[in-house]
Amino acid sequence: MLPKKAVIPVAGLGTRFLPATKVIPKEMLTVVDRPTIQYIVEEVVASGIKEVVLVTASGKSAIEDHFDYSFELETFLAQKGKLDLLNQVRQISNLIEVVSVRQKRPLGLGHAVHVTEQVVGDQPFVVCLGDDLVEAEEPCVYQMLKVFEKYQEAVVAVQEVAEEEVERYGIAEGEEVEPGVYRVKRLVEKPKPGTTSSRLAVIGRYILRPEIYDCLSRTLPGVGGEIQLTDALDILRKERGLYAYKFKGRRFDAGDKLGFLQATVHYALDHPELGGQFREYLKEIARQLD
Ligand code: UTP
Repeated sequence: MLPKKAVIPVAGLGTRFLPATKVIPKEMLTVVDRPTIQYIVEEVVASGIKEVVLVTASGKSAIEDHFDYSFELETFLAQKGKLDLLNQVRQISNLIEVVSVRQKRPLGLGHAVHVTEQVVGDQPFVVCLGDDLVEAEEPCVYQMLKVFEKYQEAVVAVQEVAEEEVERYGIAEGEEVEPGVYRVKRLVEKPKPGTTSSRLAVIGRYILRPEIYDCLSRTLPGVGGEIQLTDALDILRKERGLYAYKFKGRRFDAGDKLGFLQATVHYALDHPELGGQFREYLKEIARQLD
């Protein structure tokens, strides 16, 4: 059975991006011409997923509204004959079915996933973090679904990071069973320098089995006093198995100011209308910097 639902937790406070995120959810910050959350929803739709479960909190209703039907705006655009814009706005609300679940307090990513248990039920599902963008020829989630189909165990997406970045991520240690696919032997959240030899960092894409909910119910607060998804995944690994997949593509942490700027440059360069002009502009800037 392949996953039909994608859980997207968006209930975090976005403190790394203050003051921008005081009122605006970080997932609504715009990369070129779309909020980051739309890129993620487009990725899951392109991977064949039919339903998104948003884990929200107070102050995040703009995200739900973005994917909802907007009677006033659509009527206005239709009356003005702005059909191109009307189509764009309609496409967003037609993209996917969205269900929301509230996380009443930001107790961590693991907790955010746990609150979706009733809505997801007894089936495998995808988790995508609301601020991790992956630019790839074949959508990252689609690549991972192929790994899940083969091994039938949970899969986390990993990328190789520099030695000095290891302590900022959940790190997977494992044995490579085919090119880019690892059977995970240990998973550790934000390891202290020198405590792991692996540089495989878990990024915000997961294919999970429903057994993760039981693992989450047995997970105590970890790093930062939060219920860590990484800790629950390590229980799942011990009891069933877990794979790490080195995806093909480039990931941006759009919840971080520098990552957000890098994403903006890359997506702008790839933009069908703006790309050419933007490339010329960057060349000019680069000449001035020399
Ligand atoms: P982050 O740690 O990147 O998000 O969590 P954050 O807490 O919003 O950001 P900072 O670190 O304060 O800047 C990864 C993802 O998990 C969600 C966040 O919304 C983000 O998409 N999350 C995190 C929750 O939904 N609930 C939580 O309790 C924690």
